[in-house]
Amino acid sequence: MQIFKPYLDDRVKALIDDLSLLEKIDIRCLPQSVAIIMDGNGRWAKKRGLPRAIGHRNGAERLRSIIKLSSALGIKYLTLYTFSTENWKRSYGEVAFLMDLMVEYLSREIDELHQNNIRIVPIGDLSALPLPTRRELEAGRNLTSANSGLTVNIAVNYGGRQELVDAVRLLAEQVCAGELTVEQIDEKAISDRLYTAGQIDPDLLIRTSGELRLSNYLLYQSAYSELYFTDVLWPDFSADEYLKALADYGHRERRFGKESSVKRGD
Ligand code: FPP
Repeated sequence: MQIFKPYLDDRVKALIDDLSLLEKIDIRCLPQSVAIIMDGNGRWAKKRGLPRAIGHRNGAERLRSIIKLSSALGIKYLTLYTFSTENWKRSYGEVAFLMDLMVEYLSREIDELHQNNIRIVPIGDLSALPLPTRRELEAGRNLTSANSGLTVNIAVNYGGRQELVDAVRLLAEQVCAGELTVEQIDEKAISDRLYTAGQIDPDLLIRTSGELRLSNYLLYQSAYSELYFTDVLWPDFSADEYLKALADYGHRERRFGKESSVKRGD
């Protein structure tokens, strides 16, 4: 098989330790949309005898290289699970730290993201967030809304079931108002009312830290996503680990319910 490896400029190459990983990437077989469950910050910190907050801080630092590489590779959507509807059950201190970290991260990074033509789209119920976090997310969305490069969806106070509840309520309201008939409710009608309306579904869904669950993430959108699980804890998920996931995706046969075109033994 001939591999068409991606062209990357030196600044992006500098993020990669093992450049031979690029030999394993076929530019024609890259996902257009990647979703990530960034799990394992707490365990990463515990292993080092550090507070969980340090794990989250190092987790946030990881985003820089993953976003840069996604953008350089021409990936169109990157959806990051930063805070779920269930994460409110964590201690007050940890929730407050994560909310502040989001403000700190966005206020520091947003100009560079904007200069790199990256569009920030918060997805989830922002109304329940502390005001500074909500303001920062909304400011990021407004500043970058016309950008045409990589879209980074920041899933915050996000729950896949809640997203479906919201979509169903919207549909019901529109039917009651006579704007929509029951017969017009199809898969596209639902998709168009999700937080990710207008976007393509994730081709690849990555979860770090060895957990093998979806945890209420993108339940409707991930129907045909390829799943990639790794034991690597999120703060250790380097550009190299990301390239391994992308190379693995390149070898998957996506069938969408059709029969296999690969003969057994191939
Ligand atoms: C899961 O690890 C991680 C989270 C709940 C938070 C994810 C947040 C970040 C990576 C950084 C914040 C993001 C931005 C945009 C600044 P865990 O705490 O459940 O780890 P554990 O399972 O090992 O305890």
